[in-house]
Amino acid sequence: MTDVLDGVRDHYRTTGLTQRLKTALAALGPEDQRLTPQQLGALDQFHTRGLAATAELATLAGITAEMSVLDVGAGIGGPARFLAATYGCRVVGVDLSEPFVEAARYLTERAGLGRQVTFEVASALELPFGDRRFDLVLLQHVAMNIADRARLYREIRRVLRPGGRFATFDVVLNSGEPHYPAPWARTPAASFLLTAAATREAIEGAGFPALAWQDDTEAAKAWIAQLRASGPPPSPNLGVVMGPDFAQLAANLGRNLMEGRLGILTAVFEAASTNS
Ligand SMILES: C[S@@+](CC[C@H](N)C(=O)[O-])C[C@H]1O[C@@H](n2cnc3c(N)ncnc32)[C@H](O)[C@@H]1O
Repeated sequence: MTDVLDGVRDHYRTTGLTQRLKTALAALGPEDQRLTPQQLGALDQFHTRGLAATAELATLAGITAEMSVLDVGAGIGGPARFLAATYGCRVVGVDLSEPFVEAARYLTERAGLGRQVTFEVASALELPFGDRRFDLVLLQHVAMNIADRARLYREIRRVLRPGGRFATFDVVLNSGEPHYPAPWARTPAASFLLTAAATREAIEGAGFPALAWQDDTEAAKAWIAQLRASGPPPSPNLGVVMGPDFAQLAANLGRNLMEGRLGILTAVFEAASTNS
């Protein structure tokens, strides 16, 4: 188990991330000027279709200001900040990567959201929270890094109150071997993709009937086509976070989607009150 987590940690390992972000963000304005989720969207939404995908998932999940939200595998915190700024809810993010959590805290202060959004270093397989603590759990582009899906979805179920919701936005295996390096894994050793059907089975097996189930592959392919047509990406972008090979990682995500090797799944589940 630890070996597997170490492999994933290595993939997201980076040094001097917060300092690199400070330097890159100087292009957007002085340090004391508040940054918005829209300004940060090209570098802090670490998943297919960026901010638009987070906004759609939030709508589908029915998020409200009163909800207590957990973002599992929160990255550098873009989705958590967007939810707090847009809906007024409180969000806790957890992530395996220490540098990502440090960067998430820095960006959250820069966005003036420190009272609403907090981050902790933790594994999704051992969430540092009591039972039934949250109304909504978000999982965006994280499950493909996790081998023990049964344990992942059980942990999420445990921290949700009965009737609470689990919203996921994931890369799934479609047909054939994916090309690597990919944005979530430079080699297959850190990649644990499942098909959409196997993902659904694992989630439902943890006591989560589905409320919404969408195949978003075509939308993702349209986004890839648009990116390819529009030339170099805006700056700063996720290259600041993942390093100079990010262009290659992103290009392989595009190839995998366009060649039908991978798909994209959006789904919302309810924590069944009988399985608590
Ligand atoms: C592709 S990024 C997505 C980040 C964020 N959800 C977003 O959409 O912007 C995947 C993240 O999952 C985290 N992660 C992977 N495995 C994890 C685990 N077992 N526990 C906690 N975080 C994990 C990684 O450190 C990384 O930050």
